[in-house]
Amino acid sequence: MNIVDIITKKLNNKTLSPKEIEYFVKTSVSGQTADYQVSALLAAIFVNGMNDEETFFLTKYMMESGDILDFSSVSGIKADKHSTGGVADTVTLIAAPAAASCGVRIIKMSGRGLGYSGGTIDKLSAIPGFTTDISKDEALKMSEKSGIVIMGQTDTLAPADKKIYALRDVTGTVESAPLIVSSILSKKLASGADTIVFDVKCGNGAFMKNINSAKSLALQLTGISSMFGKKTAAVISDMSQPLGMNIGNSLEVIEAIEVLKGNVEGDLYELSCLIGGCMVFQAQKTKSLEDGVELIKKSIKTGQALSKFEEFVAQQGGNAKIINNYGLLPKAGSKIDIKADKNGYINSINTQLIGRASVETGAGRIKKNDSIDLGAGIIMNARIGDFVKEDDILLTILSSTSEKCLSAAEIAKNAFEILPCPIEKPILIKDIITKE
Ligand code: URA
Repeated sequence: MNIVDIITKKLNNKTLSPKEIEYFVKTSVSGQTADYQVSALLAAIFVNGMNDEETFFLTKYMMESGDILDFSSVSGIKADKHSTGGVADTVTLIAAPAAASCGVRIIKMSGRGLGYSGGTIDKLSAIPGFTTDISKDEALKMSEKSGIVIMGQTDTLAPADKKIYALRDVTGTVESAPLIVSSILSKKLASGADTIVFDVKCGNGAFMKNINSAKSLALQLTGISSMFGKKTAAVISDMSQPLGMNIGNSLEVIEAIEVLKGNVEGDLYELSCLIGGCMVFQAQKTKSLEDGVELIKKSIKTGQALSKFEEFVAQQGGNAKIINNYGLLPKAGSKIDIKADKNGYINSINTQLIGRASVETGAGRIKKNDSIDLGAGIIMNARIGDFVKEDDILLTILSSTSEKCLSAAEIAKNAFEILPCPIEKPILIKDIITKE
């Protein structure tokens, strides 16, 4: 087999065979295929796409390039969730313990944030003592004991994705549906869950900017997963503004705890209840999705979800006292308020700019190995459709230095559009797709 023939075939918009895809993945990882050849094939896939069968085999061989975890010895249905990435998306910290408190087993591998999109592992690392560096044996014990464990993604999980993603990132080929689907699924399917709920974000703060592209990604994620025999569901949710009101690691932990305490409702609460409800339903704990959502809401109302969060934090070495003392979490020393320059209604929020401003505070990273400031971030004070008066605070920027606050403010100040006429609030849940 010859890589040049495979590239030529895809450049001519022909279907690649399973053997050709296997050769491409294996020789990309081994280094036998040069990076410029891998990039050429990625560009050809970006332009000409892949059918479901090709995407299935690309996913399969990428998944098989590394460890495939087996948690079959853990009793019960193991559920996982995956968000395609957004701003102030703290759903995992709420939905996972809430679903675990309803009897669902959560064994979850999460990633770190990159660019304007945050990561669960970074958020959890804001909790003093908390570790996500957990071996498989420890994870098995923890999930049997408490029903929930969240681990950091290891380098041995789908190494082909690591190689291919790094080249996509520098060749403008990230935003290709078969490449996104195979990248996400190769890691998720290797992490051993029986059922997965996808949260596909849609809007100006997400990969998928409109409903058609989000729906197509959701259908492919659920469709290809079912070709692997996995039961999945996908929720398409709004990302035309940050999901929660806090962006940044300590800040998002605080907001998640406030939701779990039942003190805060709104978009983050609603989506967390839906994703948690999907996990409960997919794990066969309820007869319908609606019952699943109600069960999650009840677990929050009764304090059951918060107790599970406390148990989960303590089990992974974290200081559970943070739940009633936010002063124990890292804090930023400097702050700047961004105020409205006129009266009017918030017509739109540029979510990507808010995410970029948050990275500028130190809360996120631009390159993979950048360090982050766990106390830094942004507190939002207004949402689309709200009426604001001139000089009302739209958001507060927090960072360890006033210089970083100023440069984040330079970015964030252009994120709000205020118009004189009222506007409807965006619909949070745009679609729900289930697949056996
Ligand atoms: N998340 C991933 O893991 N891979 C992609 O390609 C896009 C989002």
